[in-house]
Amino acid sequence: MERHNHSEKPLDIVILAAGLGTRMRSRQAKVLHKLGGRPLIAHVCRTAAYLKPHKTYVVVGYQAEVVRKAAAEALSNDEAVFVTQSKQLGTGDAVMAARADLRDANSTVLILSGDVPLVRVETLQALISKHKTENASCTILSVRLENPTGYGRIIRDEAGSFVKIIEQSDATHEQRQIREVNAGIYCFEVQQLFAALERVQPANSQGEYYLTDVPEILRSGNQKVVVYHHHDAREVSGVNTRAELAEFENLLRRGTIRRLMLDEGVTFIDPSHAYVSDEAQVGRDSVIHPDVHIEGKSIIGEACEIHQGSRISHSRLGNRVTVKDHCVILDSEIADDCAVGPFAHLRMNSQLEERVVIGNFVEVKKSRIGRGTKSMHLTYLGDATIDKHRSGNSHLQL
Ligand code: UD1
Ligand code: CA
Repeated sequence: MERHNHSEKPLDIVILAAGLGTRMRSRQAKVLHKLGGRPLIAHVCRTAAYLKPHKTYVVVGYQAEVVRKAAAEALSNDEAVFVTQSKQLGTGDAVMAARADLRDANSTVLILSGDVPLVRVETLQALISKHKTENASCTILSVRLENPTGYGRIIRDEAGSFVKIIEQSDATHEQRQIREVNAGIYCFEVQQLFAALERVQPANSQGEYYLTDVPEILRSGNQKVVVYHHHDAREVSGVNTRAELAEFENLLRRGTIRRLMLDEGVTFIDPSHAYVSDEAQVGRDSVIHPDVHIEGKSIIGEACEIHQGSRISHSRLGNRVTVKDHCVILDSEIADDCAVGPFAHLRMNSQLEERVVIGNFVEVKKSRIGRGTKSMHLTYLGDATIDKHRSGNSHLQL
């Protein structure tokens, strides 16, 4: 067995994102479908960036330009490299698209799928560290599934050692009973990866070049192939259908709301009917009523109350702000102690200073409303600057 110490090698990442994703029944590439308001590919790219790789290669093909744009937003410029797979001939062929750039690198390559959005950084770090301590040429992430249908199965010999991966459509009835599956996430040593990929043939039921043939080729060449078994199947499972996408959406949302309740001290009247982006922040003692949507990187301060049916998108609210029922607040800022709604619409970088009151059926577009000003009903305030309220009565209003 060939031995080589690769603990000091650089890390490169390859993200496979060239496919259409037939089972989504969509005209849009699968990796562009949104989870938590962001394309699937953006989730994977963000996770990749946390690992601080030397380069991240994104393999694009179907709707290449749009996928590239979505990925680029989540990666830094000097890290991202886009390579094109012009025909989707399989996952092995997809990795080959990066060969010209990668083959002379002396790196460890982590391969990720653009359609596995919730894999955690810690899990990938553990996979990489296993690969390094074992001095392996390939380390496969596997999980056990109650229903393994559709996945590549991990075939082991009687001693439990890895033999090969067999795809669902090429598996025998017995092999299909195996519940340990390939998660589609691997580490490879770059030289061995490409040497083996050159030997992959599309001799299977789908007529594709399978990346999953590489481990067997390496093993038969006396290279070390390791399986890293992970306990959380949901975390590393892929999105293949819209039903699965909806399940992921639920999972992500439940996690976000739980964290806001337990760690941040936010009250949800009905946690199962609240929609908060995982990038949003909500402050202590704020109360979120049912059917509220908080989108993007919105920030809600402390002790705010957001009543039912309101949508707050890419906006910032100070402390003790009340948003009454059915308001739409887009790309705007609301300072401390304001009240908005019901049925108010704020948009295009509107700014409310402290203690402003915006009442029902008021639209505020691209305007700055001065401290203490009230606009109680049926008003359009567009492209306006309104000075602070100057009180003539005995109440002290600053
Ligand atoms: C793949 C694995 C399977 C594994 C599963 C885990 C293969 C042959 N099979 O199957 O063992 O259990 O992932 O999720 O690899 N892609 C391209 N170009 C192509 C084909 C695919 O870029 O020509 C991309 C897709 O866009 C996707 C990823 O590769 O992001 C995986 O492809 P997909 O067709 O979903 O593979 P699976 O059938 O799920
Ligand atoms: Ca898949």
